[in-house]
Amino acid sequence: MSVAVIIVAAGSGSRLGAGLPKALVEVGGGTLLEHSLRTALQVTGLEQVAVVAPTSHLETVTELVHGVRAGCVVHVVAGGADRTASVAAGLAALVDGLGDDTTEPRDDSDTSDPSESTDADPQADLVEPQVVLVHDAARCFTPLEVYERVADAVREGWVAVVPGLPVVDTVKVVDERGVVHSTPPRARLRAVQTPQGFVRSELEAAHASGISATDDAALLEQLGHQVLVVEGDPSAFKVTTPADLVRAQRHTASLST
Ligand code: C5P
Repeated sequence: MSVAVIIVAAGSGSRLGAGLPKALVEVGGGTLLEHSLRTALQVTGLEQVAVVAPTSHLETVTELVHGVRAGCVVHVVAGGADRTASVAAGLAALVDGLGDDTTEPRDDSDTSDPSESTDADPQADLVEPQVVLVHDAARCFTPLEVYERVADAVREGWVAVVPGLPVVDTVKVVDERGVVHSTPPRARLRAVQTPQGFVRSELEAAHASGISATDDAALLEQLGHQVLVVEGDPSAFKVTTPADLVRAQRHTASLST
C-alpha cells in the first residue's frame, strides 16, 4: 500500500501568540512546518504529500515547500475554519494513481477538482488501498519511527491507527458547571498524537459524513470503526503555547549537542 501524508498547518496559532501562523514559527533553524515536512518525506512508500496552509499565507507556504527537497508530489492547498475542514481540504487535494517521480511541489490552491489534474485511472485506489497519514505540523519533532509504526499497522489491516502515550495525570470528566461526572481509570487512558493513519477510502467516507472533531480517529469511532493505539513518542509533543516553544528550542538544542 502506498502512502499519502496530509500535513495540517492552517491553524492561526493564537495560543502561541507569535503574531503569525504557528506552522511558520521558527525553531532550531526551520519552521515547524519544515521540520514536519522533512520527516514526512522519508516515510516508506510515500507517493504524495498535501500541505494544508493558512489562506493568508498560501504563497509563503508554497515557497517554503519549494525549498524542501521532495522526491514526490507535494500539493499545497488552503485550509478551512477548523482542523476537520483543513484535513478535508488535504484529502480533496490527493490524486489517484500517481506513478511518476515528480520532484516539483505543486500549488493546487486554484484546482477545484483534483481528479481532473491527472489522467491516471480514477479506479486506481480501488485496486490498491492507500494509507493516509494525517499529521499536525505543530508536532514537528515526531520521529520517523512513529510514522512507520502507524503506517505498518494500517498495512496489517487496521482501518484507523493512532499513536498514543499513557497519561500521568488522573483525568476527570466534568459537566458544564465544572462538577466531576466521572473518573476514568488512568491505566486505560492514552494521550494521542499524530500522525494518525487510515485506509484512505474510509477516511474519505468519515469526512463525507459531515461530523467534526479535534482528531480524525474520532470521526471513524463515531462511524463504528475500531481504532488501534500504537506506541507514540514524547518527542511528538504539540507546540501550542509559548512554554511548548521553549520545550521545542530545548529539544533542538539537545539534538545538536
Ligand atoms: O489547534 P490545534 O493545535 O489543535 O491544531 C492542530 C493542527 O491542526 C495544527 O498543526 C494546526 O495548524 C492545524 N489546523 C489546521 N486548520 C485549522 C486549525 C488547526 O490546519 N483551521
